[in-house]
Amino acid sequence: LDNGLARTPPMGWMQWQRFRCNIDCVNDPHYCVSEKLIMQMADIMVTDGYKDAGYEYVSIDDCWMSKERDPKTNKMQADPVRFPSGIKALANYVHSKGLKLGIYQDMGTKTCKGYPGSQYYVPLDAQTFADWEVDMLKLDCCNTGYDMVSGYSVMGSFLNKTGRPILYACSWPVCMGKNANFKLAAKMCNMWRNAIDITDSWDRVHQIIKIYSNNTQHFAEVAGPGHWNDPDQLIIGDYGLSETQQKVQMGMWAMMASPLFMSVDLRNIDPRAKKLLLNKQVLAINQDPLGKQGMRVWIDTTGTLEYWTRPLMSNGSYAIAILNTSDYGMSRHINCTLKDFKLPSANSYLITDIFGGENLGKFGLSDRIVLQLHPTDMFLATAVPMSFS
Ligand code: GLA
Repeated sequence: LDNGLARTPPMGWMQWQRFRCNIDCVNDPHYCVSEKLIMQMADIMVTDGYKDAGYEYVSIDDCWMSKERDPKTNKMQADPVRFPSGIKALANYVHSKGLKLGIYQDMGTKTCKGYPGSQYYVPLDAQTFADWEVDMLKLDCCNTGYDMVSGYSVMGSFLNKTGRPILYACSWPVCMGKNANFKLAAKMCNMWRNAIDITDSWDRVHQIIKIYSNNTQHFAEVAGPGHWNDPDQLIIGDYGLSETQQKVQMGMWAMMASPLFMSVDLRNIDPRAKKLLLNKQVLAINQDPLGKQGMRVWIDTTGTLEYWTRPLMSNGSYAIAILNTSDYGMSRHINCTLKDFKLPSANSYLITDIFGGENLGKFGLSDRIVLQLHPTDMFLATAVPMSFS
């Protein structure tokens, strides 16, 4: 979507995967979806370096609303107990921290969790979000019993009409499945979900990567500045992934030029997970201004070893990745060359191992790169061409 936003993949924090629809602030006040939770996350994004690293949006997800619209004005209203100050005040707070506020709605009659949806209320809801000074709308596609794509298009034009820059995150491509027109999504939305929902498991991360891997050309050709494929939130620092698997999610989301929305309790995150989320070199690959999504360039016959390549902005540089999705207990011996990554010929490339933080030296296209990968692990590197002198 050409609205000046999301020139690189959007980054932030999102409520959903970690806090879901926990509305029980009586018994579970520390973990329920409330303005307090959102404010605490905004605070930590500033104090703990996430904002400086580029994480910008704090995004409320489903279950923030009252079950009914305001009977007089038909406007959406925030739950009065959990969001007593209202969304506008929350937006002010988030803005005072130098961050942006994201919110959630649904194009159908109800949201996925049964709160009032935008169908029949599109102009009113678009204007309400703008009046509240919201900066991002994630628009879901549950309970859409009609031509949902035109609904999204109408919402897009009403958002545009408000004059407020609002990042538009769409879900319709995932609801339409195989029939989705991604070129249309790229015109209409700043980012769009195109694969199953993330859950807190390696199995799900792996499934999502597989969808991107199997559709590599189809997905990569529609991504670029202003419009990104969205493989869903990061679960780094949650319960489900081992350390190497967290590395894989971070590294692959960088290769795939994916939006980075952390969904983790930042108040007590494991220091290693935090370090990974703040890894400058990985973030630089993710945020590379050329905005070209990486592609799978090779996969072995068992389907458990893949090579990926992503062109970068600075002249002739690439990010390259080797992904081992096998969970067989032994580590895997890798023996490859830069030719396997389909790099164009150059005198030689300087290879830097991103997670290892090591410069591995100069490699010609046919020089052997030898390494070991653990089960469900990856190697991520940059390859910078050396001059011909
Ligand atoms: C869908 C979306 C999730 C989340 C929930 C909220 O499942 O894919 O990301 O927003 O709805 O109910």
